[in-house]
Amino acid sequence: MSQNKKIIVAIDGFSSTGKSTVAKELANKLGYVYVDTGAMYRMVALYAFRNNCIDDNTFDVEKLVGLLDQINVNFIFNEKVGFAEAYLNDVNVESEIRSLQISGFVSKVASVSEVRAKLVEIQKRLGQQKGLVMDGRDIGTVVFPEAELKLFMTASARTRAQRRYDELIAKGDDVTFEAILENVTSRDAQDTSRKDSPLVKAEDAIEIDNSNLTREEQFDKIYQLALTAIQS
Ligand code: DC
Repeated sequence: MSQNKKIIVAIDGFSSTGKSTVAKELANKLGYVYVDTGAMYRMVALYAFRNNCIDDNTFDVEKLVGLLDQINVNFIFNEKVGFAEAYLNDVNVESEIRSLQISGFVSKVASVSEVRAKLVEIQKRLGQQKGLVMDGRDIGTVVFPEAELKLFMTASARTRAQRRYDELIAKGDDVTFEAILENVTSRDAQDTSRKDSPLVKAEDAIEIDNSNLTREEQFDKIYQLALTAIQS
């Protein structure tokens, strides 16, 4: 057993299950790097919007695929907020990528195999040194099937919609609960039914339903699991 053994923690699950909150906290506590892969897909969706690949409800997949080489996604740690913020072609887009417009389209962008191949390659590179907490939909199944600890987070759709609604309202966004609930359920459907790397629980992942767990209870549980994995 080595005190300094570094591991990869893969956190997958449905949207708005609080994956990124717990992943950030865990990474900070362990002194690990945190990578939000949903933010990477959101950055590609934002780029697609800004470069006319998406118009009304029409998505020009070929156009986006042709532009993929021009998309550079990156994270830079911001000490003030305590996590690494998303940068699209060297511009901070942390706030823009969380809008309901991007949330409404990102699953379609994430279903494009060429987009996934590009982002998965970057994600694998980020894990070469271990000491990483990564969250997403396919981390334990596709990106790091060999991860030492895999978690699969769930919660009821209404619980998740309420959390996202509270977040957006606190930011001052003009949204309704019904619109958020619809977004959560339609993303669940798209994420679980897409052909390439659908959201599915890895066989060896530990499922955590946090509908009735406080943030502290959930964190303690996950932190203990991480310590056990590090020490085994
Ligand atoms: O976690 P999130 O809500 O920010 O993710 C945004 C979208 O990106 C989500 O609808 C599914 C997709 N996604 C994915 O397909 N694979 C990942 N590893 C992460 C996110």
